[in-house]
Amino acid sequence: MYRDTPHAIHLKDYRPPEFLIDAVDLRFDLDPERTTVEAKLALRRNPAATRGDGDLRLHGEQLDLERIAVNGHPLTPSEYEVHQEGLTLHRVPDQFGLETRVRIHPSLNTALEGLYQSGEMLCTQCEAEGFRRITYFLDRPDVMATYSTTLVADKRRFPVLLSNGNPVESRDLDGGRHLMRWEDPFPKPSYLFALIAGDLKAVEDSFSTASGREVALKIYVEPHNLDKCDHAMRSLKKAMRWDEERFGREYDLDIFMIVAVSHFNMGAMENKGLNVFNDKFVLARPDTATDVDFDGIESVIAHEYFHNWTGNRITCRDWFQLSLKEGFTVYRDQEFSADVGSRGVKRIGDVRLLRAHQLPEDEGPLAHPVRPDSYIEINNFYTATVYQKGAEVVRMQANLLGPELFRKATDLYFERHDGQAVTTDDFVRCMEDASGRDLEQFRLWYQQAGTPELSVQEAFDADSGRYSLSVRQHTPPTPGQPLKEPFHIPIAVGLLGQDGEDLPLQLEGDTTPSAPGTRVLELTNSEQSFTFVGLEAKPVPSLLRGFPAPVKLKTEASDDDLLFLMAHDSDGFNRWDAAQTLMQRLLLALVDDAEAELPERFFAAFEQALMDAQSDKALLAEVLTPPSEGYLGDQMAVVDVDGIHRAHSVLGRRVGERLRDALLEVYRANDGSEPYAFMPDDVGRRALKNLALGYLAKAGDAEALAAAQAQFEAARNMTDVMAALRLLVDHGGEAGTRALDHFYGRWSGEPLVVDKWLSVQATSPREDTLERVIALMGHADFSLRNPNRVRSLIGAFCNANQVRFHASDGRGYRFLADRVLELNPLNPQIAARLLKAMVRWRRFDAGRQALMRAEIARILDAEALSADVYEVASKALG
Ligand code: ARG
Ligand code: ZN
Repeated sequence: MYRDTPHAIHLKDYRPPEFLIDAVDLRFDLDPERTTVEAKLALRRNPAATRGDGDLRLHGEQLDLERIAVNGHPLTPSEYEVHQEGLTLHRVPDQFGLETRVRIHPSLNTALEGLYQSGEMLCTQCEAEGFRRITYFLDRPDVMATYSTTLVADKRRFPVLLSNGNPVESRDLDGGRHLMRWEDPFPKPSYLFALIAGDLKAVEDSFSTASGREVALKIYVEPHNLDKCDHAMRSLKKAMRWDEERFGREYDLDIFMIVAVSHFNMGAMENKGLNVFNDKFVLARPDTATDVDFDGIESVIAHEYFHNWTGNRITCRDWFQLSLKEGFTVYRDQEFSADVGSRGVKRIGDVRLLRAHQLPEDEGPLAHPVRPDSYIEINNFYTATVYQKGAEVVRMQANLLGPELFRKATDLYFERHDGQAVTTDDFVRCMEDASGRDLEQFRLWYQQAGTPELSVQEAFDADSGRYSLSVRQHTPPTPGQPLKEPFHIPIAVGLLGQDGEDLPLQLEGDTTPSAPGTRVLELTNSEQSFTFVGLEAKPVPSLLRGFPAPVKLKTEASDDDLLFLMAHDSDGFNRWDAAQTLMQRLLLALVDDAEAELPERFFAAFEQALMDAQSDKALLAEVLTPPSEGYLGDQMAVVDVDGIHRAHSVLGRRVGERLRDALLEVYRANDGSEPYAFMPDDVGRRALKNLALGYLAKAGDAEALAAAQAQFEAARNMTDVMAALRLLVDHGGEAGTRALDHFYGRWSGEPLVVDKWLSVQATSPREDTLERVIALMGHADFSLRNPNRVRSLIGAFCNANQVRFHASDGRGYRFLADRVLELNPLNPQIAARLLKAMVRWRRFDAGRQALMRAEIARILDAEALSADVYEVASKALG
């Protein structure tokens, strides 16, 4: 906590470390109230460092130092200084051993960084800078050491003791205590350190690698959760195989462990050989978890596993390079999910996510480049920009190179940099060296914040058969970057003939036309024109197929062209996108006038899509799902909170009324009762039928509400139960209340299911939702100290209930600010993340602006603000 203004750290100030640590020997005497940590560090001066004053500065926070010795000789207090942020040693030798003993207090650690208590177990979270809360260290990723870790604890209370690497020793000690020793042969930065102590049970399996080594796989959970690990284990084995096949990456230790923890700030953590997970991304049974949960588990398990190469074997030089590992690893997990599931649906989901979170971030006061230039608190930079836009930037390079050269480039990256801490620039250089391409201008994607806006003008000359697309790019200013250089933007296009078929594409200057399909144009100037020749009639352009770049297209396509694309485009992504644009137009028209007539051909297109027996159901469900209220707000000059909500209801109701028969038919045809399987076809079927039911319920259809009630009672999978519960709750009345009570009664013993119960209430558009949320904060199952509960209730209300959170009386804003101030001393990371729900206050009307501003100012005025909350609040007002 700071009394003075926290200061920013800048990329341009990066210097190599003055000292290196080659080996670490740790011994933990574990106890929730009072843990002793003894560390032996083998230190030496870094030959590559520019010489400083010769002092050794170690990071350390909230540590009680009990002993310190150099080469076995205890130091006297005059030989070192302890301060707020660490420890300074004067006049140390060029090479020496440092021993320290500190005391820490896991049970008091509510920030969940470093070593903390979660329920009955002890666990760690060290990324980004948590290791300094465990022992004095050079807690920066460019210091890589081998670790030997000895864990001592009471055997009855903590029978399982885990750390990174391989187990090498296990024995009982006096007084009911026992000892386990682990050795990790791979040098790693401190943020990848982990330990676990608890009364856990493991689901075990094994994997034989491509080169024939056997790897023991273990998923550790509390005993009552042993029946919820199958899906996680299956996902892990799939991910291990996929990484061998697609990237040539094999696992490197003899054992790989996953532990599910119930108090966790983020999704999961890729510690070497010992991944620690938020239990939400491990535990699933068909009756407790939805399709969305199953999907999240599969991709997060894969993501953390993939980090073993992209993050662990090759790590980041400094935290400005975070996207080196996160952007690349998200790209890898996206590709994995696309390969094991449905590629088209995956791409749509990823773009929906990017549009929902990253675009708004890029347009707001917290906009930052994929490789930021500065930060106050690095924990605030685990963002959609670093992760999702970072993945898009890798994807663009993969597409520019093509599959073979991209594989050659990643092989080169793994070979050249194995065991090193490197930069995003090193990554791009591998792409260049393997392909011979010049990516100098492309590097701007890492350096410039903001989303480029593309506008396209078309011109057709019937006499010459020439058709040209003039493309312009413009990137609005972002904080600290008033002027932008033009980006290097790949634009995938196709041209459709009047029959809806793809035309052959012949660019001016080409000697022969390329086959009908998609062609990638490379835009490098602020304005550029591309001319196709040999066309008999004006084609309908299909622009940005597959979403080739993280840009915003200002489309001038007519409604007719959009309907045409929705029906015929060979690119599934663009069929979806055309439908989205169309629905967006209808919804914005309804915002202006809720009585506006909806064009007949819209209903016709909707019905035609619905009745198309051939189409992929998951894809269809995506096509027929309207853009969210939040996304619609982003498309308006001033967000009209109530108008958007009304428009959404009106559209839903009219579709439900007009297409009643078709919707009922689709619902019935897809309402199977076979046992649950997480298979693309089944997932698609459930999505489509619940979408149909949702439209019918919006129309207040009595038959639909009865069906929802029946589904709620009969369904044995959580996907269908939750879909029905949502409709009953939103419809209100007795039925909704009864369903909620019944649901809680059934699931009160399962915290992750209780989270769903909290969320469904927090996101309901009902008028009394805020009162309910406040009441639920007093519920026995709610706790501000558990991030999953906070996100399910408070996070869901503030981020997924635009109409109630942004109520014009400002009570939602006051509620959020109060929670941020309560959480600030407890868990600064979670407090700062919640506050982000209010940073785009300038997007709203004057009344709401003033209310949000005042709440942010109130936060900024508070005493003892954490660096995390200070950074978000001050930048929001700046
Ligand atoms: N590296 C983890 C992941 O993406 C996330 C860790 C986040 N830590 C944090 N302090 N924000 O898999
Ligand atoms: Zn990650």
